[in-house]
Amino acid sequence: MENQNHKRPSATIIFIFGGSGDLNYRKLSPAIYNLFIDEWMPDKFTVIGIGRSEYSDENYRAHLLEGIKQFSRRKDVADAQWQAFSQHVSYLKMDAEKDEEYNQISEVIKEKQAAFGAHPNIIFYMAVAPQLVPDIAKKLGKKHISPDKSNTRIVIEKPFGHDLESAHELNELLMSMFDEKQIYRIDHYLGKETVQNIIALRFANALFEPLWNRNYIDHVQITAAETVGSEGRGAYYEGAGALRDMVQNHILQLICMIAMEAPVSFDADEIRNKKVDVLNAIRRIGKDEVSRYAVRGQYDAGWMEGEKVPAYREEKNVDPKSATDTFAAVKFYIDNWRWQDVPFYIRTGKRLHEKTTVINIQFRPAPSYAFPPEAAETWRPNRLTISIQPEMDIRLRFQSKRPGQSMTLNPVDMIFRYKDAYDGNEPEAYETLLLDIMEGNATLFMRKDQVEAAWRIIMPIQDAWKNRAPVSFPNYAPGSWGPEDAEALIAKDGHQWIVM
Ligand code: BG6
Repeated sequence: MENQNHKRPSATIIFIFGGSGDLNYRKLSPAIYNLFIDEWMPDKFTVIGIGRSEYSDENYRAHLLEGIKQFSRRKDVADAQWQAFSQHVSYLKMDAEKDEEYNQISEVIKEKQAAFGAHPNIIFYMAVAPQLVPDIAKKLGKKHISPDKSNTRIVIEKPFGHDLESAHELNELLMSMFDEKQIYRIDHYLGKETVQNIIALRFANALFEPLWNRNYIDHVQITAAETVGSEGRGAYYEGAGALRDMVQNHILQLICMIAMEAPVSFDADEIRNKKVDVLNAIRRIGKDEVSRYAVRGQYDAGWMEGEKVPAYREEKNVDPKSATDTFAAVKFYIDNWRWQDVPFYIRTGKRLHEKTTVINIQFRPAPSYAFPPEAAETWRPNRLTISIQPEMDIRLRFQSKRPGQSMTLNPVDMIFRYKDAYDGNEPEAYETLLLDIMEGNATLFMRKDQVEAAWRIIMPIQDAWKNRAPVSFPNYAPGSWGPEDAEALIAKDGHQWIVM
């Protein structure tokens, strides 16, 4: 999205710990490059990749260029634009475990500050393995690398802890070094255009909000399905699983967007307060009731699109007897006036039938008694479908009369497609989030209490699963929609998973 008003963030230095790593290669550098092309980067900025690998600035830039060509939404990189951009990028070889090496960062800040003739924003982006974050944060804080709290920010990627206790500890540690307003905890789903649009859909239209409650909504479904397997990330995924990897963060955040009350302003804390209210109202699942509310699965070996794929237990860095969930389905309730007794069914998994993230708001059935019984045979309740990705659209299903001499009803869709309405050049989530960090806008980032509230919700499930080994793993075939128990979870309430 091109910058048309040209109000750019002020001078900025971005340090990327994990500068030679995968996240920077696939996501961060392409995002920063696109922000530059769209004229959102500050007039004065520099991006410094920090890592242990050996790179000259020139080699490092060439390495990032490859990543941009492969992963950026703009794959054609014009030479002149690249030259202009890449002079802002450099590499700092450093062992982040050694105290004394942090002086190099102070030197860079001093040097850039002088060159910019300004007091730049300093961003420390933790694109490293989660176990390295506490130590780096401690060193940055203790060594007073950038002590001015007004212009220094630290960005923490997920996973934020691996349970409530570790998340709390990490929060305590970060807050002993930084103020809450300096800490940007990323959940990249919140940067997605289609996710942000939920706020516009709900609160900028008179049509939906009056119906957006237990009186009219029967239930809500959220599916976040992926076709990929563990993608060589076994070492991480073994300690995570679908519940921690997707539900604790992305899916609970989607629930917050759907279920939150209307904010009175766009102030970061106001929006986050409204979201945390939802998390706090989600009914705690008792430790003895987990099997009634949650289903786990793990994929077997099989075929996907004509290709043989291994079972999760055969993937690299995975225990051959692994009990890790690659699929999770949960039924949540939100105990408040708006949502009491409306089930929110969610499911997510790897190696499922298709890549799709979609939210379905299923309305209560309308009374059909006035129509002749044969007219109502294909009667279906109204449904609002919000497709987050890869399709980006919103559909409203309603009944219509099938053309002809008899009164026969038929569900039809009213569809808004991003690609028809707009030019199809939506920014990637990381572009939006990085720009917000530079601008100091924390609305789309997780606050301390949000992260901990989210952990509190999933802990009973996590604990129950840990304490009872799964007997049926692997229990679903690649290319399916997950284990049969997930169908049963929703079928026992008289519903079924909606497949588009
Ligand atoms: C990440 C998870 O947070 O989200 C991955 O760690 C998952 O396992 C990814 O594949 C999905 O993101 P997206 O944007 O492709 O839906």
